[in-house]
Amino acid sequence: MKKIRAAICGASGYTGRELLLRLLRHQGVEVVGLAHGPSSEDCSMPDLFPEFKTLCELPVLGVETLYSQDLDAVFLALPHGASAPIAKEFLARGVRVIDFSADYRLRDTEVYEKWYKVAHCDKENLKKAVYGLCEWYRDEIKNAPVVAVPGCYVTSALIPLIPLLHDGVIEPNDIIIDSKSGISGAGKKLTPQVHYCESAESFKAYGMFSHRHTPEIDQELTKFAGANVNVTFTPHLLPIIRGILSTIYVKLKDGRSPSDIQSSWDKAYKDEFFMRVRKSGTSVEIRHIVNSNFCDMSYTAGPGRVIITSALDNLVKGASGAALQNFNIMFGFPETEGLI
Ligand SMILES: NC(=O)c1ccc[n+]([C@@H]2O[C@H](COP(=O)([O-])OP(=O)(O)OC[C@H]3O[C@@H](n4cnc5c(N)ncnc54)[C@H](OP(=O)(O)O)[C@@H]3O)[C@@H](O)[C@H]2O)c1
Repeated sequence: MKKIRAAICGASGYTGRELLLRLLRHQGVEVVGLAHGPSSEDCSMPDLFPEFKTLCELPVLGVETLYSQDLDAVFLALPHGASAPIAKEFLARGVRVIDFSADYRLRDTEVYEKWYKVAHCDKENLKKAVYGLCEWYRDEIKNAPVVAVPGCYVTSALIPLIPLLHDGVIEPNDIIIDSKSGISGAGKKLTPQVHYCESAESFKAYGMFSHRHTPEIDQELTKFAGANVNVTFTPHLLPIIRGILSTIYVKLKDGRSPSDIQSSWDKAYKDEFFMRVRKSGTSVEIRHIVNSNFCDMSYTAGPGRVIITSALDNLVKGASGAALQNFNIMFGFPETEGLI
């Protein structure tokens, strides 16, 4: 069988590295190109990440070297604003794009420009982009020229909440999402906020009422609720390397009982390999999902509220694993290929 020829832009970054590890064990892919960004020089993969020695010794070159390559797909593990101009080049050459950034996630460019503070430079392709939440957009993903991989915090919120809003189990306008992420969520660039001395042995909230994942969560939940949803979302920086745990406070609609949560999740996810509904009354844990593409979820009912916990690996189900799952759908592979 002819292998799909794929390349990674952003191979020098955290999510690019995670993706390559998984593509190397994928039976249907040949990785033919790797690109770095402005802060790296031409080199080989083991120069950047020694763990690739003997596994993958491909050169890592400038993005423009990939434009002339014969490619079927390109993964853009790039920051927002950097992705769209590069995606545009590949799409013009008929290469299918899987983008990790926010550039193709928000349908409304005014919302994008307000929250990300950059002009959107590819409104044409945005119209054809599909939101890559695999469990909910599978049919659209199959033929999409460009897929936007959902944000990591966003995925941890959407996975448990979409079925409950879709089935009318919870109130759409009383949702509080309290998320904690490991520090790799910020990427490899060092900033004072994520410096070891500032983040180790401590724990803090940030981006209160201002985190860029808020409009993305609202966009998707509104779609499935059939009513306007505006969540209260507070992210926190957890002094661990990887993993997200979200604690989500919801209210049941009148006439609904906690067991409706179980039924709704069972209906949505019983055949979804990467969705794991855990026993009610317990909290899910980061250590159970680290390095995997699983998203675990559980609920506990109490007076007047239900508390949901969800956990996923920000670098895997929150980024590169979801990207590969999208790729598998786009090119007709089993969704688990390269991921288990
Ligand atoms: N980290 C996570 O947990 C996570 C989760 C979900 C989504 N995401 C999203 O995934 C994307 C990548 O995140 P990351 O954590 O992997 O970031 P990262 O570790 O900072 O890596 C960013 C990569 O992009 C390259 N790059 C930066 N500017 C570029 C430009 N103008 N042209 C070409 N390449 C450029 C960098 O190259 P050089 O370093 O060589 O300059 C690097 O390879 C971001 O959009 C992020 O929001 C990340």
